[in-house]
Amino acid sequence: MAAGSLGLATLGAEDYIRPLEPTSEPIHIRVLFETDPAREAVVAWTTTAEGESHRVYVCTEPREGDLDAYSLDLASTHSQPYTLRAEEETAGMYGHTHNVFLGDLEPDTRYYLTVVSDEIASDEYYFKTAPDDDRQVRVVGVGDSRTPRAGRTHPENERRQVNDLMRRLVEEHPDIVAMIHGADYTNRAYWAELYWWLKDHAEMTTTSDNRLLPIIPSRGNHDRDVGFEEMFWWPDRENDYYYTTRLNSEAAVITLNTEISRGGDQREWLESQLAELRPAKRWLLAMYHRPAYPSVRDYGTGSSQRSAWVPLFEEYGLDLAYESHDHALKRSFPIFDGEIDEERGVVYFGDGGGGVPQRQPDPDRWYLEMTGRHHHAHLVTFNDDHVEVKAINIDDEIVDEFVLTHDRRLVLDGVPSGGE
Ligand SMILES: [Fe+2]
Repeated sequence: MAAGSLGLATLGAEDYIRPLEPTSEPIHIRVLFETDPAREAVVAWTTTAEGESHRVYVCTEPREGDLDAYSLDLASTHSQPYTLRAEEETAGMYGHTHNVFLGDLEPDTRYYLTVVSDEIASDEYYFKTAPDDDRQVRVVGVGDSRTPRAGRTHPENERRQVNDLMRRLVEEHPDIVAMIHGADYTNRAYWAELYWWLKDHAEMTTTSDNRLLPIIPSRGNHDRDVGFEEMFWWPDRENDYYYTTRLNSEAAVITLNTEISRGGDQREWLESQLAELRPAKRWLLAMYHRPAYPSVRDYGTGSSQRSAWVPLFEEYGLDLAYESHDHALKRSFPIFDGEIDEERGVVYFGDGGGGVPQRQPDPDRWYLEMTGRHHHAHLVTFNDDHVEVKAINIDDEIVDEFVLTHDRRLVLDGVPSGGE
């Protein structure tokens, strides 16, 4: 749509494109993790005005906004305006992102922070770094958090309900290290949509005592625009959003990118990572957007992932693969070499229920042990001798549950397969 052609009727129908007051008030305060969440993080926030000074004050003790008392005072490492489309400019939207890279952090430590842009200070928040020993850790998994077109700004839309569920999980399980996001955050990575995603994340996942839930992002087919890179900035990113995150000394998440070639450099990188991580790590989980074993779309849609990645998963004994994109809930049987194999198989679970309307999965596929339709998040717990996975819906019901033991035999917990 060309600039100036945005009629009032269109504005009414898509009221997520709306004028924003330009101000230096910090909003969208969040934390990003990448490879080493025990020692590195990015604190990011938004102002609608460009502003002049953007700083974060950080300390391992709460300072309740007394700026002189914080041990670190850091200027924004990277600030830039979000790329706006003509209709967003015409509507009077503004957005500037500010990012501070924190290195040399201590493992398993609370970092309290206050963000200040042009002398407007935020509340004090904190985040927790990951441990670097072998203690139990958890992640919450979510994917496909784009909302129905009419519900992007609705205060009780499904994305916000799933975010609220994740907040409750973090409050209940303080050993959650981060949220792993299986991608498709919004319909397009345009500022008018990212604004609401970031608002929902900050407002709904932050705990009642102001703990921020760090984000480990992956990239999906709805995230190809540059706004995604602006929203999830990291210094000197080495490649296009594939990387390994060490959750503790024994568990790692390998994030892959289904929006670029699954072969070539990415496949070589995956093989080198798996060779390095196995057997050094006890638990390996891969996260990527488009499934190898889809629950709704045709089986053929998984062929690129199955030909490039699955043989490596099997060769190196990957434990779990977390997938999204199909907008349902699923868990596969353990699969090895195209067959169900309880001893050696990889379990593929997920399929994306973070807010997008749920589709009807096909429960009759040979490789699917469980399917359902739920707006949901996964709670994945990495223990010393087992991994426990629970899918929880927005009514707080456990709708799937399984345990993977260290000798790789799948132990099902009596949860019925199939059904809503
Ligand atoms: Fe997708």
